[in-house]
Amino acid sequence: MTDVGIDGIEVRTGKLKLDLAETFAPEKGEEPGKYTKGLGLFASSLPDVYEDIVTMAANASHRLMERKGLEPEDIGRIDVATESAFDNSKPVSTYVAGCLEQVYDGDFHHANKGERKFACISGTQALDDAYNWIRAGRNRGRKALVIATDTALYARDDPGEATQGAGAVAMLIDEDPDVVAFSTEQGYGSADETDFLKPNQQFPSVDGKRSVQVYLARMREALEDFEAAGGDTHPDNFAFIPFHTPFPGMVRKAAGLGYRHCIRGTDVEEELAGEIGRQPRREAFDSEEEYFEAVKEYTDALTETDTYTEWYEQTIDPTLDISREVGNWYTGSVHIARASGLKRALEEGRAVTGKKLLVGSYGSGAQAEIHAETIVEGWESEIEALNIDEQIEARYDLSFEEYEEIHDVHNHEAETDIEPRTTPEGEFAFDGWGRMGERK
Ligand code: CAA
Repeated sequence: MTDVGIDGIEVRTGKLKLDLAETFAPEKGEEPGKYTKGLGLFASSLPDVYEDIVTMAANASHRLMERKGLEPEDIGRIDVATESAFDNSKPVSTYVAGCLEQVYDGDFHHANKGERKFACISGTQALDDAYNWIRAGRNRGRKALVIATDTALYARDDPGEATQGAGAVAMLIDEDPDVVAFSTEQGYGSADETDFLKPNQQFPSVDGKRSVQVYLARMREALEDFEAAGGDTHPDNFAFIPFHTPFPGMVRKAAGLGYRHCIRGTDVEEELAGEIGRQPRREAFDSEEEYFEAVKEYTDALTETDTYTEWYEQTIDPTLDISREVGNWYTGSVHIARASGLKRALEEGRAVTGKKLLVGSYGSGAQAEIHAETIVEGWESEIEALNIDEQIEARYDLSFEEYEEIHDVHNHEAETDIEPRTTPEGEFAFDGWGRMGERK
């Protein structure tokens, strides 16, 4: 069976930066360490006034198509994953295709266009749709363009405000891919939850503390389901484990709990037994509460060991490099975590071709999904082509007053004709309704 997976990736960040330690913390009366150490975030990317989910998606997609030498006729499917859509009827992919058609001779009349919604997990669901479409043999040699694009903004003074972000990830899905090949095993954990909602409103209603617990619970269920499907979860068998990353501190919690679960009954638990004992077993406790307390104590001790620390530094920390600088991109977050891990591998000259990734996606409301991927030949040149470091570096550093003004614009509370802080250069830019996505 021919491999199907990600053949190319492009990442587009919003062009403004909110520095959390220097700019945000003093205004909020908080210690910078709450953000940089506690949440693990240094800055948020925000869109300038001429940027939105369409322009970021179109700009990432155009760069990807140019780099891969593609014309519209090569693409048979465009799916956009977003939780920031502004149209309840027309999918965002039609707006993106409209932008791209301005710069190519051909058009996308033959392509199936759709929009996927299930909070942050919908980018992974769109990858699945593309994978299944190609596997079913319905693609007639064409490739799928999957774009995860969001402006992840919270109401001012909401605890989530520190975790904002904006950006798009465009991914080309094809046979014989150049970045990663998808495995067939999958695991799910899903439940009807109300911790994070956007019912016809601009900003989410969030029960932040509960959302953290729901993330962990669904992720554990997905891991168990993945194991039941025959998936390997030995933590030493993966080059990286990219998780959905609303903020790196969330991944720190998920990684500790996941590692404990995955070493149960393995050589790693055995090797650590002399140092921290064996994991508590449920049958040894009278109540769930006592058992959970013992598990918590074991996990705390486990995450202090050198074995865990070395594993975390190798397998998890590299996936957080981009996220730390750009914040939460909702649907794109797990996909920048993958790109981030591969980018670090390239920088450190790690030989990861043929090695596996375990990918943990999550969407509020709520669902987690786990699947494995294999890093394939060609990944180095694909990742080398990413210019995300240059984009991050080039962002305009907002003052707090400028941040509030821009935030109001994106909340439609202010006129959009305030001066942009950056200048569009050879890119799709939002000029207001009726002139969406004009290329500057
Ligand atoms: N130095 C070091 N650490 C510090 C510190 C300091 N000076 N001050 C605080 N901290 C630590 C805290 O101890 C805490 O760490 P732990 O969780 O490990 O204890 C961390 O910094 C954050 O502090 P608080 O818990 O006090 O922060 P908060 O309550 O103001 O906000 C939050 C945290 C509720 C998660 C908030 O960021 C939020 O609502 N975020 C949006 C929702 C979200 O992202 N949820 C994640 C799961 S849902 C999901 O993943 C979907 C999605 O994309 C939204």
